[in-house]
Amino acid sequence: LNNGLGTTPQMGWNSWNFFACDINEKVIKETADALVTTGLAKLGYDYVNIDDCWSEMARDSKGQLVPDEKTFPSGIKALADYVHSKGLKLGIYSDAGWVYFSITWLSAFTCQVRPGSIFHESDDAKLFAFWGVDYLKYDNCFNLGIPPKERYPPMRDALNATGRSIFYSLCDWGVDDPALWAGTVGNSWRTTDDIKDSWASMTTIADLNDKWAAYAGPGGWNDPDMLEVGNGGMTYEEYRAHFSIWALMKAPLLIGCDVRNITSETLEILSNEEVIAVNQDSLGVQGRKVYSYGPDNSYQVWAGPLSGQRLTVVLWNRGSKASSITVKWDVLGLESSISVSVRDLWKKECVSENSRASFSARVDAHSSEMYIFTPSTTYSSS
Ligand code: GLA
Repeated sequence: LNNGLGTTPQMGWNSWNFFACDINEKVIKETADALVTTGLAKLGYDYVNIDDCWSEMARDSKGQLVPDEKTFPSGIKALADYVHSKGLKLGIYSDAGWVYFSITWLSAFTCQVRPGSIFHESDDAKLFAFWGVDYLKYDNCFNLGIPPKERYPPMRDALNATGRSIFYSLCDWGVDDPALWAGTVGNSWRTTDDIKDSWASMTTIADLNDKWAAYAGPGGWNDPDMLEVGNGGMTYEEYRAHFSIWALMKAPLLIGCDVRNITSETLEILSNEEVIAVNQDSLGVQGRKVYSYGPDNSYQVWAGPLSGQRLTVVLWNRGSKASSITVKWDVLGLESSISVSVRDLWKKECVSENSRASFSARVDAHSSEMYIFTPSTTYSSS
């Protein structure tokens, strides 16, 4: 979407994966504090996004959305002021669906049955802008099978009409292949169902999102859902693979764990500046799976171009045994005679000054290695 936002994939935090409905203003403020004290904010994680369950169960007598009085007693404007005072931005959540209770009583709902925004786009967008909101995640529950193509543009127009820069994140779960039409509607669009904190879910989602690589670019990104890094359902190596592939796929990097109680291992993964730089690279091209082989195709090469004639490469072992994985230059569109220097982004060192034709590394089971390849001469990618 050409609204000046999302020139690189959005980075930040969202409450849903860890807290679900158990949120309140204290959690949001403490998370903003923690993003700053851990150094994550400085690395670019600047959106603090409240997901579902922030509002009362019904609109007020004037038809306005109201924050839950028990959990957000100070209101969203005060929260936005607080988050802004930390140099961060505030995100909020609503939904493009509704339910018919009877012929005469129609109501719009979020996934957790709080009031949604369909048919209230203009009023709600104005309210969000008045509160100082910087980001809207717009969900897809109770959609009655009406195409998202019809339900999402009105909120784009309403946000635009407020005059405030508000990042517009479509959460339509990949229904109706949003990559094909959402480039002019949102700054990102979900390509899949919700992620779960498991290796099976993460790998499945990576494959589904891969299909839409050609449609991502500055202003509009494929969204394979938020990070689960640090939530406990995967090993350190699995989370490292999750983060590496999300970075390579130019996915939004939205932290989904409790940053207030983050472990040093989780912080180490999320703070890898070189991996973040791949995600935020100015070229904005989504890397993809370029080759797979071995038992069940579990030895995989994912790669994509970066600015400055460089490439990023992830060697991903999805199998149950450690193995050497090889990337041959032809799958990268490079002449085999070209000399490449290879930097390992997790070891943070150059592991080869002068590789030709191919590069191999031993990769543990359910693990990955990530590199930047710098060819010594310019090349034209095929
Ligand atoms: C849907 C979305 C999730 C989350 C929940 C909240 O499932 O896809 O990301 O926002 O709703 O209810």
